[in-house]
Amino acid sequence: MPPHEIAPPPRPETRVLLTGAAGGVGSVLRDGLAGRYATFRMADRADLGLARPGEEVSVGDIRDMAWCEAITRDIDCAVHLAAQPVEAPWPGILGPNIEGCYNLFEAARLNGVRRVIFASSNHAVGFHRTDRVLDRTSPTRPDSRYGLSKVFGEALGRMYADKYGLEVACLRIGSMQPTPQDRRQLATWLSPGDLVRMVAGLIDAERFHFITPYGSSHSSTPFWTNDDIHEVAFDIRDSSDAYRDADLPALPDDLSRRFVGGTFCTAEFTGDPDRID
Ligand SMILES: NC(=O)c1ccc[n+]([C@@H]2O[C@H](COP(=O)([O-])OP(=O)(O)OC[C@H]3O[C@@H](n4cnc5c(N)ncnc54)[C@H](O)[C@@H]3O)[C@@H](O)[C@H]2O)c1
Repeated sequence: MPPHEIAPPPRPETRVLLTGAAGGVGSVLRDGLAGRYATFRMADRADLGLARPGEEVSVGDIRDMAWCEAITRDIDCAVHLAAQPVEAPWPGILGPNIEGCYNLFEAARLNGVRRVIFASSNHAVGFHRTDRVLDRTSPTRPDSRYGLSKVFGEALGRMYADKYGLEVACLRIGSMQPTPQDRRQLATWLSPGDLVRMVAGLIDAERFHFITPYGSSHSSTPFWTNDDIHEVAFDIRDSSDAYRDADLPALPDDLSRRFVGGTFCTAEFTGDPDRID
């Protein structure tokens, strides 16, 4: 069975925007969701090439409110990926991940977009310990300026859901890779096929208010569960257990193994690990 095979959409008339479409996650979704929806609009500041059949393409900067208003016009569901995707000095986070994220939600509201799927991250909950299983009630615990920006996006999403009635899903993506790259990713790995099926599930779900599902394939040593998310039935088919006997490197030190965020936690770390409960 092809890795990205998914059930047909219940509402093919849905009009979908994909920001960050030129990136790693975006390219997998661009391919995997191709031909599925009435409108499929790619947006990025990087070159997206020519529009493929059934696509629209728009190049611009998420920090530009006028562009955000243009790309969210006549859209039902915005999948928002465009961001600085790892830790960086504050100015590199502030523009795309704070200002840009605000622009996208506000433009979506102004244009009557029904649903926003925000690419959040495991680094929004990175300072939780790996010997517990997180669920939707677990508080955010950012492990970096990057993780903090994802907590901002989640709080923004919650406010837009509560105040303005947008349906918002913040998908806390683990590690989207072709295969797990280290032993930590036996818990965090999200296969490309499961990424496509999870995002399709969120676009196609009948209704939700505000949810924060974790984005990973199956694992017998999970950091988290989606068992308490009943609004969406995720079609997850892959498992990191297939790689459990592979020769994967462990994280370099005890501290990075202790917390969900791994080396994002240990970078710049000057705290007291024993006080992090
Ligand atoms: N890859 C993962 O495993 C993973 C894990 C957790 C969260 N995420 C999140 O998923 C999203 C995509 O990540 P990725 O790994 O594909 O990263 P990526 O860097 O490959 O893609 C990000 C895209 O956003 C675009 N972008 C950045 N700044 C922009 C701006 N100012 N205006 C318009 N476009 C801009 C880039 O050009 C790029 O194409 C990010 O929000 C990231 O934080 C990814």
